[in-house]
Amino acid sequence: MVSERAADVSPFLAMDVLERANDTDDVIHLEVGEPDFDPPERVVETAVESLRAGNTDYTAARGKPELRRAIAAHYDRTYGVDVDPGRVVVTPGSSPGLLLAMAALVDPGDEVVLTDPHYACYPNFVRVVGGTVRTVPLRPADGFRPRASAFADAMGPDTRALLCNSPANPTGAVMDGDTLSALVDLAAEADATPVVDEVYHGLSYDAEEHTVLEYTDDAVVLDGFSKRFAMTGWRLGWMVVPPGLVDAVNRLAQNLFICAPNFVQDAGVAALETPPERLDAIRETYRERRDLLVDAVADWGLDPGYTPQGAYYLLADVSDLPGDAFDVADLFLEEAGVAVTPGADFGDQAAAYLRFSYATDADAIREAISRLDDLLATVER
Ligand SMILES: Cc1ncc(COP(=O)(O)O)c(C=O)c1O
Repeated sequence: MVSERAADVSPFLAMDVLERANDTDDVIHLEVGEPDFDPPERVVETAVESLRAGNTDYTAARGKPELRRAIAAHYDRTYGVDVDPGRVVVTPGSSPGLLLAMAALVDPGDEVVLTDPHYACYPNFVRVVGGTVRTVPLRPADGFRPRASAFADAMGPDTRALLCNSPANPTGAVMDGDTLSALVDLAAEADATPVVDEVYHGLSYDAEEHTVLEYTDDAVVLDGFSKRFAMTGWRLGWMVVPPGLVDAVNRLAQNLFICAPNFVQDAGVAALETPPERLDAIRETYRERRDLLVDAVADWGLDPGYTPQGAYYLLADVSDLPGDAFDVADLFLEEAGVAVTPGADFGDQAAAYLRFSYATDADAIREAISRLDDLLATVER
């Protein structure tokens, strides 16, 4: 008998589309958020050296001290923020960090406020710990950036956490410092904790990035190596937690995960030493791909009304095409061999959109654009 909580967890549509797309010949994959770059060579060498040196046993649940120090130093270098390594907990990816955050903060019946659109998995993390989701609708006219006042409207006496993501999946919106700071104030007044997923930091094109840690120590930050270092399958991430939550998160991590893989943690130290020029070059490549798709989507008359500023996603408004976004995604896959994700995965406000991921090379994106040029020329509106 499946538990009610498990029954309540919705499938991750992008993964369903991937499964179907993999059964179809000659498909261009614009549905998954998986970087096509290799991790820096030094990262691979360090992992191999560490593995050969026999670093295959458990580590402390909160992670190896050298990695926690390297993560703390990253905050000083990147944002000028002093983070005590004692507040850093290393996790096997940012997803386990999200589970630890929810388990540490939310009791059954408590509420978590998050944006709509949002990362597809967020509501499921809340539900799995017995929490209730409240959403803040975002508008294309605001570039899908949340307003603090909208969070205030959605909060109530049972609100325990405000969950945000910047740069955001699926919109590519980047939150500014004033909004983050206002959310910190709102949370403090309501005795709630801001939980900010910064996993796409390092991938912003026209906007300055701020960590919520510039404004408070009383926030949970989720971050990891998957996106900016292209290390998705390595399963390595981290959390920075408020001083009062360190013990609870550590106890949960000990019980639920034991630790992140030992030799992968050494590779994480090497990743954080990647020369900034290399990361800048990758970011420029993403920017070029974004610009290609932004222009194409406008040419197709599917302009979402904003320009995504970060991550590697953009939404296309398909409300003028026949059928709903699921039908249009099917049409793109079946008639053009282009896989994209229906927006419904990311909340009601995204239901009329398709999400394009540009974590794939520019030639494939150009080919997808050319196929969709041909297909859309034949579709009556
Ligand atoms: C917003 C967001 N957070 C977290 C994750 C999960 O990343 P990780 O590989 O670190 O678990 C993803 C993956 O797509 C994501 O888009």
